[in-house]
Amino acid sequence: MGARLFEDGFSVTLLDLTAPSEVREDVKALIALSQDGHDVCYRQVDVTNRARVDEVISEFEQDLFVVLANAGIVKSQPFLDISETYWNQHLDANLTGVFHTLQSAARIFVKNKRPGQIIITGSWVGRVPWPEIAAYSATKAAVEMLAKSAARELSGHNIRVNVIAPGIVNAGLAKHQLQTEPQYAARVAKVVPLKELQTAEQVADIASFLCSTSGDYFTGSTILADGGASLFQFD
Ligand SMILES: NC(=O)c1ccc[n+]([C@@H]2O[C@H](COP(=O)([O-])OP(=O)(O)OC[C@H]3O[C@@H](n4cnc5c(N)ncnc54)[C@H](O)[C@@H]3O)[C@@H](O)[C@H]2O)c1
Repeated sequence: MGARLFEDGFSVTLLDLTAPSEVREDVKALIALSQDGHDVCYRQVDVTNRARVDEVISEFEQDLFVVLANAGIVKSQPFLDISETYWNQHLDANLTGVFHTLQSAARIFVKNKRPGQIIITGSWVGRVPWPEIAAYSATKAAVEMLAKSAARELSGHNIRVNVIAPGIVNAGLAKHQLQTEPQYAARVAKVVPLKELQTAEQVADIASFLCSTSGDYFTGSTILADGGASLFQFD
């Protein structure tokens, strides 16, 4: 999504757990495209660390227009085997991390009396119980209500809050599961009516739309784009 918003003319700051010296090659390539006044930069941030989230969002407060809360984790675990540690890890990263990002950004927009937009990455499994990811699905359901609640309260400040709910993307977390969890890959093979996995670019297109003038009447919305995966399956 960062690359797409950079193409759209935004300067972009990427936040992630990874140390700056160890960022992925595609992130390095994106940073290398920076020009004066049209930049991509990177900051190491753990979104579960509120002080660090506040620090980095404040650093860019004069240029803040859009904030994407996209960090997330998932690991398959049968429901009966879920430990408290596993449960808390998912809630901390996928729900509390989103809350920190959302509230921190909203406070900056309000303080500076500026309009703003916050986009949260949810998932189609926030509404459909995919097997063995109960904790992940619960967090993705929760961020939809968090976004609606925040959208209602923040609308008076001209701040919009929306959720993008992708399907099964052939990148990131799902790609890792496809490569490492045979039972996950077997289920994926049957579940998408449009018969193709989603691309990261298709998800980025939705962020681009929300950030364009065409998206300016959306708030409290979840844009579900899942290739029909959440439709009832007949076989
Ligand atoms: N891949 C899919 O099929 C799919 C589908 C629906 C939703 N999503 C959501 O898309 C978002 C991006 O995931 P992705 O699939 O691109 O995977 P990804 O692994 O490429 O991206 C997730 C990123 O979150 C970072 N992260 C994890 N915990 C963090 C923390 N505490 N602080 C800061 N960064 C942290 C990771 O380091 C990683 O770079 C996630 O919210 C995920 O739930 C993915």
